[in-house]
Amino acid sequence: MKLHFRNTDIYYTAKGTGNPLVLLHGFLESSKIWEPFMEGLAKKRQVICIDLPGHGKTGIIEEVHSMELMAQVVKGVLDHLGIDKATFVGHSMGGYVSLAFLELDPQSTAGLVLMNSTPEEDTAEKRINRDRSVAVVERNKKAYITTAISGLVTPANNLRFKAELANLRSIANTFPTEGITAALKGMKIRTNKREVLTNFKNFKAIISGKNDPIIPYDSIEKLVKECNCQFISMPDGHLSYLENYSEIDKFVHFID
Ligand code: MLT
Repeated sequence: MKLHFRNTDIYYTAKGTGNPLVLLHGFLESSKIWEPFMEGLAKKRQVICIDLPGHGKTGIIEEVHSMELMAQVVKGVLDHLGIDKATFVGHSMGGYVSLAFLELDPQSTAGLVLMNSTPEEDTAEKRINRDRSVAVVERNKKAYITTAISGLVTPANNLRFKAELANLRSIANTFPTEGITAALKGMKIRTNKREVLTNFKNFKAIISGKNDPIIPYDSIEKLVKECNCQFISMPDGHLSYLENYSEIDKFVHFID
């Protein structure tokens, strides 16, 4: 399904009936990452998966896709479907977008799960790396994607999930260069959402991988206490939905 938003089409899927659950993918991913969860979840509720701007089949809106702009896209899809309240599960960049949605429209947020994600902004070092990444993507998108996706999980899991990671890479290779750079620029300028998360009183949880090379486990372990979130610990890397599929599948079924 698609919805025209400003200058592009936003692609999404919506399945099932009941309490809405919005699943938002991360950087270099698409709504396809949620497919293994869909059938089970859609038996008991409405599940909405959105291709965020510049990812999946969704086009580019601006040179910079801020998390706030992506949250407006999500709001556009929910309005279009007549949904006034939903629970969000966001993987990594999808978590940043979920937090921007919470800030934009707290009344419409029934619950929030950040998977391998954080309310913190980029460190100064990470911002420099975002600029470097933009330059690398512009020079050689394919090489960037190959390396970036390998860097999400441990060497052992690169072997264990070889086929799945190859599939992720081949989907990411279909995204336009400008879609990837717009997200990098948007993540770089994202603001701290710790207060937004702390003030949110409904169900909230953060899932963190012990060997996540992108969002350090230790930083999340500390933060959950301060933000009053449930902490869900996973043994592997940045792709809990893949590396720890059974645990995540059980968990998402338990969310209201
Ligand atoms: C993601 O997986 O969405 C990104 O790696 C997150 C990030 O780079 O901060």
